[in-house]
Amino acid sequence: MVSNSPDRIRLHERSFTPFLTEEDISLRVKELGQELAFRLGNGEPSFLIMLRGAFIFAADLIRASRLNGQISFVRTSSYHGTETEGKVRMHLAPDPIHVTGKDVVLIEDIVDSGLTMQAFLPELEVLNPKSITLITLLHKPESQRVPVKIDLIGFVIPPKFVVGYGLDYDGLGRQLPAIYQLAEEF
Ligand code: IMP
Ligand code: MG
Repeated sequence: MVSNSPDRIRLHERSFTPFLTEEDISLRVKELGQELAFRLGNGEPSFLIMLRGAFIFAADLIRASRLNGQISFVRTSSYHGTETEGKVRMHLAPDPIHVTGKDVVLIEDIVDSGLTMQAFLPELEVLNPKSITLITLLHKPESQRVPVKIDLIGFVIPPKFVVGYGLDYDGLGRQLPAIYQLAEEF
């Protein structure tokens, strides 16, 4: 396929090279949408989108699934430093109306260390959802430090930093339609 995406892009003085094309992503997201619809049957799930990274993936996935369901958002960030590890800062907390008694589909961009999900999932469980299905576009198993039960994964990738399709490098690159990988070592 002829592609007009650049071979190399620069963000904040770092170089990134193509990793997953628009076509790779679109094919896989359609499969994930079908798998989600298959798993959730005729149910009406409650989609919970982890901001900001998952917003583009979620928009495509939800449409690909053809499922009816409410859509709401959550925004967290992880604390850094050993003492606060395992805690998550809640900027936009889940609304109990969209969680309690619902089949929640939690949509994440990437599971890296796993610390965000390890901290966030208990916060969701206390709201007593009927079920939780965790779906992530990307997973870096070699970077994972804590166990996380992931139900659906788009792509398993090596432990290298990636940007595009919603993921950023220090605020830049979310708008890129494809996914790029850091060209050098950090
Ligand atoms: P965790 O390490 O699993 O807690 O991942 C925390 C968050 O870090 C993810 O939800 C992403 O927003 C971000 N993140 C981790 N790895 C990458 C990456 O390669 N590119 C962009 N963001 C990343
Ligand atoms: Mg994220």
